[in-house]
Amino acid sequence: MVDDPAQLDLVDAVVPTTGRAAPVRVCLELDASYRHRMLGHVGVRRSPLHDVGQARAVAAAIARRPGFRLVGVMAYEAQIAGVVNRGPRRAAVRAMQRASAAELAHRRAAAVAAVREVAPLEFVNGGGTGSIESTRADASVTEIAAGSGLFGPHLFDGYVRFTPAPAAAFALSVVRRPDAGTATLLGGGWVASGPPGADRLPQPVWPEGLRMLGREAAGEVQTPVTGAAARTLAVGDRVWLRHTKAGELSEHLDAFAVVADGELVDEVPTYRGEGEAFL
Ligand SMILES: Cc1ncc(COP(=O)(O)O)c(C=O)c1O
Repeated sequence: MVDDPAQLDLVDAVVPTTGRAAPVRVCLELDASYRHRMLGHVGVRRSPLHDVGQARAVAAAIARRPGFRLVGVMAYEAQIAGVVNRGPRRAAVRAMQRASAAELAHRRAAAVAAVREVAPLEFVNGGGTGSIESTRADASVTEIAAGSGLFGPHLFDGYVRFTPAPAAAFALSVVRRPDAGTATLLGGGWVASGPPGADRLPQPVWPEGLRMLGREAAGEVQTPVTGAAARTLAVGDRVWLRHTKAGELSEHLDAFAVVADGELVDEVPTYRGEGEAFL
């Protein structure tokens, strides 16, 4: 993924062009953020390539350069795909997302057309789970990178246009009963990335009616839960939780157990389980 000739220089420094068996295939990242007169920069800060001319210039520089082949464009609209928009207090978010999708549809299409003039693209990647409808409406996009929707983590309960079936959960054991109204689970501090807040915490979902304590929340070694169901939990019982996000759950586990109709049908290793640590 490139957006700056400096990244090509870095590749050349690691593997000189003369030593390459084949050209290095690269994908150009277009900045899909929304620039608003009053709100300023809305979206993530990744690529410096915002307008069509900038994308065209870097694409042409890659096309001229030996040892590289430009095969794709990616433009990820995080301000639509990754920002929850359900509820009356989020009307402004929905308005921003509508405006951003309209602006991006023109800009991304024009940038892709400009890049195609210098490179025969194999794919144009856009969107994420939270933007499937608007990204799909953009004819310049050939694939949508929607991974989280398959797991249905609880962040995605907060979107207007869809309600994913929660498909991934993890269980923690009750190991302590500090008082009659509290059950303390082993571990649980699997807090999601992003601006810190309560919405980044795992959500206890089974048995129903459990909640974390505001003063302690989810900790590395323990997570106390309270609520009516906590009174009935015994040491050794399990409490099921949903993570805020999908991929980050995998960072804590060696494998996923795949369950269908109540039966364990498969076990699939995570990157962590395969001994990999990419990020
Ligand atoms: C480049 C890119 N595409 C897509 C996504 C969205 O992925 P998901 O559908 O899992 O939310 C992300 C999330 O960070 C991303 O960085």
